[in-house]
Amino acid sequence: MSAVEAARRGAFDGSGVAPDDVARIVVRCMDCGAEYSGNRALTMCAACGGLLDVVVPVERRVDAAEFGHGVPAAGAHSGVWRYWPLLPSLPAASIVSRWEGHTPLYRDDRLARYAGLQDGHLELKHEGLNPTASFKDRGMTVGVSHAKAIGARIVACASTGNTSASLAAYAAAADIPSLVLIPEGKVATGKLAQTIAYGARVIQIDGDFDQALSLLRELTAAYDVYLVNSVNPFRLEGQKTIVFELLEQREWRVPDWIVLPGGNLGNSSAFGKALTELHAVGLIDRLPRLAIVQAAGAAPFAAYHAGGYAAFRPVAADTVATAIKIGNPASVPRAKRAVERTNGWVTMVTDDEILDAKAAIDRTGIGCEPASAASLAGLRRLVREGIVGREETAVGVLTGHVLKDTEAIAAYHGDDVAGAPRRGANRPTRVPAELPALERVLADALHG
Ligand code: F0G
Repeated sequence: MSAVEAARRGAFDGSGVAPDDVARIVVRCMDCGAEYSGNRALTMCAACGGLLDVVVPVERRVDAAEFGHGVPAAGAHSGVWRYWPLLPSLPAASIVSRWEGHTPLYRDDRLARYAGLQDGHLELKHEGLNPTASFKDRGMTVGVSHAKAIGARIVACASTGNTSASLAAYAAAADIPSLVLIPEGKVATGKLAQTIAYGARVIQIDGDFDQALSLLRELTAAYDVYLVNSVNPFRLEGQKTIVFELLEQREWRVPDWIVLPGGNLGNSSAFGKALTELHAVGLIDRLPRLAIVQAAGAAPFAAYHAGGYAAFRPVAADTVATAIKIGNPASVPRAKRAVERTNGWVTMVTDDEILDAKAAIDRTGIGCEPASAASLAGLRRLVREGIVGREETAVGVLTGHVLKDTEAIAAYHGDDVAGAPRRGANRPTRVPAELPALERVLADALHG
C-alpha cells in the first residue's frame, strides 16, 4: 500500500491515538445540532454539511481572576491559553505555543478624529504584533495543538498569506509536516518567504483563494490531511481570545462597537462566539455590536446583509487588500449568527478608503496591512452614515502587520494615476553624498 493510499480517510481517525480528554470534547453542528467527539478532524457536519462549534462549558460563572491559572506549562506564556476555562481542554502534552497573543490596545486620538469619534473613544487592538505578524497565530496554536492531540500526520491550509505563514510556523514547532495552497501571484512576497522559511510545502495553484480552498476541501475529504482553515472549529476557539483580551485590557468595560475586517468570516464568527460565552459566564453584562467591514470588490456578505439576508451570492473578488480578497466566504451562516446576536452591522469600503485609512494609521506610528485598515475605513463610513454615533465608543481590530503588502505602500506614496505625487505622499529623496545636499533636505524637513 502506498503512503497516499494509507492516508485515505478511514485508515486513520484519531481514535485510539487521542487521549480520553480529547474524546470528551464535544463538537456540535450549528444547523442540525448533531454532536461529534473532538477526537477527530472535522470541518463540517457529516449529517447535514453545516458548520461546527466546539462546545465549551458556560453553565457556571467564571471569575476573571481564574485566567492565567491552571494553564498547562506549554501554554504558560501564551495570551491564548491564559483563557483556559473558556477553551477546549486539550491534553497538556499536545499544546504548541509560540507565546502568541498579549497584543497591545493602542489609543491615538488622531485616529478617533479620523473616524469621526470623540477623543478617547477609539482604541485599536494590534493583532499584527503576534509571532508571525497576524491574528492567525491565536487560532493556529489551538488548531495545531488539536492536530497534535489526535495524532495528525500532516496539516494543510489554503491561504491569502497570513494563514500560510502561521501554519508553517506552528507546524514546524509541532514537528508535523505542512502543506500550503496559495493563489498564484497573489500572495505578498514577505508572507510567501516566511512560509517557505518555516518549511511548509508550498503549492501555488493557478486560481484564486476560493478555488484553492475548495480544492483543498476535496483533498481533506478524501485523505487524512488535517485542515486548519477557519472551517476548523478548533481554530476559531483560539481567535475568540482577541475579544477576551481586549475586554480584559478594558477591565471588562464593554465598548459600544467592535469593528473588524471580514474575508472568509472566520474571525467574525469567533468574535460572536466569544461574546456570547463571556455574557453567559457573567464576565460582561451586555454585548458590544460587531461591525464587519469588507472591501467593495469582495463584499458578498455586505451585500447579503444589505439585502436582508434574502439570498447569498458569491462574487469574483478583487481588492488591493489581499488578505480579504475572498468572494465565497466559508463561514457565512456563522458570521450572520454573530451579527444577529450582537445587533451588529456589515458594511463595505472602497480600496481608496482602505488606503487612506491605512496611511492615517501608518502615520501615527502604529501601522498595519491594507486589510486591517478596513476596520478604520469602515468605522469612518459608519459614523458618517449615522450607524455609529459620534459619542459612541469603539475598538477596531488591526489584523496584520505593516510589512505585508508593501507594494501597496510604494504605490500609494508614489505617483497618482495622473502621474503627479499624491497629497501627503512620503517619497524618499535622493541626494548626492555630500553635506550641503543633506543640509538642504534638513532645512526642508524643518519647514514641514
Ligand atoms: N485580516 C487579515 C490580515 C487576514 O489575513 C485575514 C484573512 C482577514 C483579515 C480576514 O479574516 O477570513 O477570518 O474573515 N486571511 C486569510 C489568510 C484568509 O489566508 O491568511 P477572516
